[in-house]
Amino acid sequence: MREIGAIIFDLDGVITDTAEYHYLAWKQLAEELGVHFDRAFNERLKGVSRMDSLHMILDHGGIVLSEEEMNELAHKKNEHYKTFIQQITPDDLLPGILPFLNEIRAAEIPTALASASKNARPVIRQLKIESFLDTIVDAATVKNGKPDPEIFLKAADQLAVTPDKCVGVEDAEAGVDSIKAAGMYAVGVGSKKAMAKADWIIEHPSQLTLKALRGHYG
Ligand code: G6P
Ligand code: MG
Repeated sequence: MREIGAIIFDLDGVITDTAEYHYLAWKQLAEELGVHFDRAFNERLKGVSRMDSLHMILDHGGIVLSEEEMNELAHKKNEHYKTFIQQITPDDLLPGILPFLNEIRAAEIPTALASASKNARPVIRQLKIESFLDTIVDAATVKNGKPDPEIFLKAADQLAVTPDKCVGVEDAEAGVDSIKAAGMYAVGVGSKKAMAKADWIIEHPSQLTLKALRGHYG
């Protein structure tokens, strides 16, 4: 059986349901701009940086703005998002995540967080799971966002584990592309359609157990 060398987690939509808060915050902004925004369009924004997401929404609505106006809108979306995440407590860990993190710790498998969110650190602190993560890749220090492999490769490097021994867990199409481009095994949380390129697709994080993962990873 192949040994799992490390497990690298995305945050929003995998560990906690902040993907829903990003969706609500973008939807409010898009509606204020008069741009049609639905869940299908939102799928394309998952895993994508704040500024790139804003560019996609503006392109979608055929709106052209100055850099200053765009910075203001990105700030506004983030303020809205921050009001949502203030309420986060350990109860907001998605079902199955805490038992899975405990199993990983017991098996002494190194772990990392690879999130494109500049709000990742406060969210992890509020969820009280810092001790389960050996390293966090700081989104601010990554040059190329998902789907570029940089963030997952950096996480593997910080753990000193080669990419071919790493498992990445994602809920975003851009995230699965990033994991695969890094040469890692991808677990996709979500619909078969959105997660089509993942090696193992699960509908919900509660299906994450080491036994099930090892069974698929082989
Ligand atoms: C994650 C989320 C995206 C979000 C990005 C930036 O990748 O999946 O939806 O746009 O982080 O988040 P931030 O908190 O920095 O705006
Ligand atoms: Mg995500």
